Amino acid sequence: MKHTVWHHLNLCPHGDPTATVTDAAIAVRDGRIDWLGAASDLPAAYAQWPREDLGGAWVTPGLVDCHTHLVYGGQRADEFAQRLAGVSYEEIAKQGGGIVSTVRATRAADEATLLRDAATRLEPLLAEGVTAIEIKSGYGLDLASERKMLRVARQLGERYPVTVYTTFLGAHALPPEFAGRADDYITEVCEHMLPALADEGLVDAVDVFCERIGFSLAQSERVFDAAARRNLPVKMHAEQLSNSGGTALSARHRALSADHLEFLDEAGVAAMQAAGTVAVLLPGAYYFIRETQLPPLDLLRRYNVPIAISTDSNPGTSPVTSLLLMMNMATTLFRMTVPEVLQGVTQHAARALGKADVHGTLAVGRSADFAVWPVTTLAELAYWFGRPLCARVVRHGETVYTRPTAPLSTHV
Ligand code: NIG
Ligand code: FE
Repeated sequence: MKHTVWHHLNLCPHGDPTATVTDAAIAVRDGRIDWLGAASDLPAAYAQWPREDLGGAWVTPGLVDCHTHLVYGGQRADEFAQRLAGVSYEEIAKQGGGIVSTVRATRAADEATLLRDAATRLEPLLAEGVTAIEIKSGYGLDLASERKMLRVARQLGERYPVTVYTTFLGAHALPPEFAGRADDYITEVCEHMLPALADEGLVDAVDVFCERIGFSLAQSERVFDAAARRNLPVKMHAEQLSNSGGTALSARHRALSADHLEFLDEAGVAAMQAAGTVAVLLPGAYYFIRETQLPPLDLLRRYNVPIAISTDSNPGTSPVTSLLLMMNMATTLFRMTVPEVLQGVTQHAARALGKADVHGTLAVGRSADFAVWPVTTLAELAYWFGRPLCARVVRHGETVYTRPTAPLSTHV
């Protein structure tokens, strides 16, 4: 039995900087939170427990990165150069580059290589306090290669101190061997790939790229129906490059989240509200493809749709490995507020995974997964960019990361 009282800290239990407890304490028994609140209210029963002094730092729930494509082969720096010369993301995809070029590299890579590459992208996220992450397939596009990606995602969760949720994104792009036969590929996804991978326990949710260069509404719906037959929750890459109506379709299927959403309209927002679907905004992709259409923040607020922020870490549209940078971009580019972005990487991100009861909030009975920030104000989490800020990460009550040079004081 292990007991610890973490003290000399300021607590932000829900990721909401307007609801904090200064000079707080957290009592942890066997990895779970036994008690938390103002240090002056700490019950006498905890007086004899060993103590850990956090030097007056801020403590938030462990961060949740709820939309990533972290596992893939190669990189696309050459396409980036093409885009710098004026060719658009959509044009590159139509010319046989884009997602399909990463599919070639991913199919060619073995599991060990994919694991090593993905680990180098995971490590900086963990050093920023991420304790839960979603990882999608979608660069394999055949059964063996999608399985390889999802197995690597699971291995990351076994080898690193992070909870990994896998999403099957077989309907990400049309693989070359199905050229001109998109409906047949969707049949393959629904009748073979998804059932086989679900049977192997590799799938926690199912995603579709619904777009002119992805799949149609009718094809997306077939995938959602196949997910429902397996009792798997769904989500969608929706309204990223154009308004396809995918968000309303996903809401009808009780999607956990609809993601990207730059071209979302009011009807789609209303549908999300009715279904409780989370809006996952991805400022890294918005920035990197130099999108100018902003996601409809005012509508999302007016309809009280929960908003999450994520990296979308992927080689084509968002080669980023910092969730803190996404918080900064969500404020500067999307004009989101600090409370919005903090909740967007904690409780709302957890909800986008259907795991609001497990991640994103610190409360009695929950796993003690938290990040320690030696900053004066939580606004600094969105303010600095490109600077390490997290001093320590605790998961299941154990310190799993300590920044080598971190002074545990309120002044960094
Ligand atoms: O989330 N939109 C589709 N999928 C990815 C990009 C994938 C790629 O270009 O490799 C995204 O932006
Ligand atoms: Fe994505």
